[in-house]
Amino acid sequence: MGPCARRNAARVRFAKARYQGCGRESEDLAFRSGRVGATLRCGQQDCSGPPAIGSVSLALVLGEESPWSHPAAIAGPSVQDRVASREVDISDFGKAPSLAWLEAIRPLLRLNAREVGLLPLVLLLGVAASLAESLGISFVVVFLYVAIGDGAGASGSANPLLREAMALTHGLGGGAAAIIGLILVFMLARILFTLAYNLVTSRIRNRISQKTREEIYRQYLTVSYQDIARSRRGDLINTLATESFVAAEAYFCAAQIGISLGAALVFCAFLCVLSWQIAVIALPTALLVLLAVRLISFRTRRLDETISQSYRNLSGQMVSAIHGMKTLRVFALEKRYEASFKEASGEARRSAVAAEQLRAMLYPLGEISYLVLLGAIALAGGRLGITTSVIIGSVALLYRLQPHLRELEQSLMRLLEIRSVLTRLSDAVGGIGRRYPEPGRLSYAGFQEDVSFEGVTFRYPGAEEDALREVGFSIRRGEVTALAGPSGAGKTTIVNLLMRLYDLQAGVIRADGTPLTEIKREDWLCRIAVAGQDVELMDDTVVENIRLARPDASFEDVRRAAADAGALEFIEALPDGFDQWIGEGGSSLSGGQRQRLGLARALLAEPDILVLDEALNAVDGALEDRIREAVIARFRERGAVLLITHRLDSLLDADRVVCLDHGRVVEDGAPRALLARPGPFSRMLGRSA
Ligand SMILES: Nc1ncnc2c1ncn2[C@@H]1O[C@H](COP(=O)(O)OP(=O)(O)OP(=O)(O)O)[C@@H](O)[C@H]1O
Ligand SMILES: [Mg+2]
Repeated sequence: MGPCARRNAARVRFAKARYQGCGRESEDLAFRSGRVGATLRCGQQDCSGPPAIGSVSLALVLGEESPWSHPAAIAGPSVQDRVASREVDISDFGKAPSLAWLEAIRPLLRLNAREVGLLPLVLLLGVAASLAESLGISFVVVFLYVAIGDGAGASGSANPLLREAMALTHGLGGGAAAIIGLILVFMLARILFTLAYNLVTSRIRNRISQKTREEIYRQYLTVSYQDIARSRRGDLINTLATESFVAAEAYFCAAQIGISLGAALVFCAFLCVLSWQIAVIALPTALLVLLAVRLISFRTRRLDETISQSYRNLSGQMVSAIHGMKTLRVFALEKRYEASFKEASGEARRSAVAAEQLRAMLYPLGEISYLVLLGAIALAGGRLGITTSVIIGSVALLYRLQPHLRELEQSLMRLLEIRSVLTRLSDAVGGIGRRYPEPGRLSYAGFQEDVSFEGVTFRYPGAEEDALREVGFSIRRGEVTALAGPSGAGKTTIVNLLMRLYDLQAGVIRADGTPLTEIKREDWLCRIAVAGQDVELMDDTVVENIRLARPDASFEDVRRAAADAGALEFIEALPDGFDQWIGEGGSSLSGGQRQRLGLARALLAEPDILVLDEALNAVDGALEDRIREAVIARFRERGAVLLITHRLDSLLDADRVVCLDHGRVVEDGAPRALLARPGPFSRMLGRSA
């Protein structure tokens, strides 16, 4: 299997794809391509269609390799074009030229355009250091001529380099001291150029890392929640914390390639001028040695791919274990997790040791081959009648050329190795395949009349069924609207849509007649707040967790919100009161305490519309009633309340109840009126009575 074929064997996933074998069209089909263009298969188990595939709309690519490297995939005029609508024929995947991946990392290049622009300076400094070194070596040859008392031989030599060097030496007095002085000047110049190179590059390296991780982090925060919620946390952390450094590494590989090439050219030019006969023999032979070593090093690169995969696997396991510490203890899964971690960790160690050992062998192998080559050249030079001084100078140049050739080869290979990570980073930086929430353009001064759902149909990404189907109802000002229905009916989904976490597939939600997507997101979100069953608390103090809703709120406001949420008493009983650190996710608090913090946070936001989604179901009945009644009375006055609760008796206090079942509204009206007639609501209450 050639390299292109291997590229296509990588696992790729398209957010939108049509598999023509089985005719299935889905948001999330997984394909695994076996052989180029012929064996792409639909990931669904029951698919028995022929394996050939026609075209897909490429959107999101996961896995080691990206089909963006395919020219057809990158031919579109814009990223958006590629993401959403472009139908790309992938039947000839694999015919892609290998350099097309450079196109795929364009967002990364664009992000670091300033640093890319500084590349010539970096190259200049690197090559200048090599030039100074070559000149130093040339003067060593001159010194040898003078030392053996053959200065006249060098001045009269057919070699222009030697003649020029001798002329310069004569200009400086002609003695050995002058030559040594010149050699020292060149060596010092090399040191200074190298220093400047290191200073410049350290700034650039850290700047690239900083920009890349900040941009990825920004993307994580700004892409639509529905996209980020579907990504594996381990992958997100790995990309941000570890892989973001690869961008800087790639820059230096590119710089190193330029510098090594430049340096190699400088050394070769000096060698040719010093002795063209030696150059003719040595340069092709040196390249052959290098190629032979490269063939052996090929295996280390395969091992590097395995290592990278092993570490991704390890980080995935770490994240899932760290997030599930409590669950895995409760289900006594410690041993199983430990065994599976040990296996992944052992795999990472084995491949790392194998790669390092192979690499450790490569270095002496390369060195020895090169030394043999240098010895042979010295002998051959003697036979060709080349003077000892020139032979020594040439051998010194060749010896110094070797690290540049090795650097060139290693940088090239490393760049090719990390291209899949670069493509991934580039996708993350450029938000490729991601959706963004509509920012909206209309200002929203405040809730006036109603929020209405009109024919809203919604399906979660990747789900088989709609969570909501043609849902229509209104939340009116001055009213408490309750959502009732069995578990899974779609109540929280309605809240998710109100909070603009997901995009609708059909229908519209209007706030005072304006579609929600047209209202500025921030304007809308500061008018609505939700207190839910599962409160997402931050690893911070009580006060900062409440303040999250309004960062500029005074301590008095925070205290008042806590009091309104019935949380003041327990907060003040904590050892550090409001400054108590609550642990990750509020792990040091009880479920009911966490919920009251969540409610305090929502109240602090002072919204027009307060959403209570099972907000106090972990709080005991009497306390819940007291808090809920006070909060509801206040927000009914202020704007509106959307109440979701399994406590059916509290539904009777609502002004309107919307009953949902399987994502549909099955009944809607005043609770007393609904109760008076047979129907879903009275059945629900009857069952619970
Ligand atoms: N993130 C998600 N991805 C895919 N499907 C989801 C997601 N969240 C919810 N669903 C599905 O959508 C449907 C409605 O879920 P929802 O959370 O709105 O129910 P609910 O009425 O709030 O239930 P409960 O009373 O148990 O809280 C369910 O079938 C559920 O499995
Ligand atoms: Mg729910």
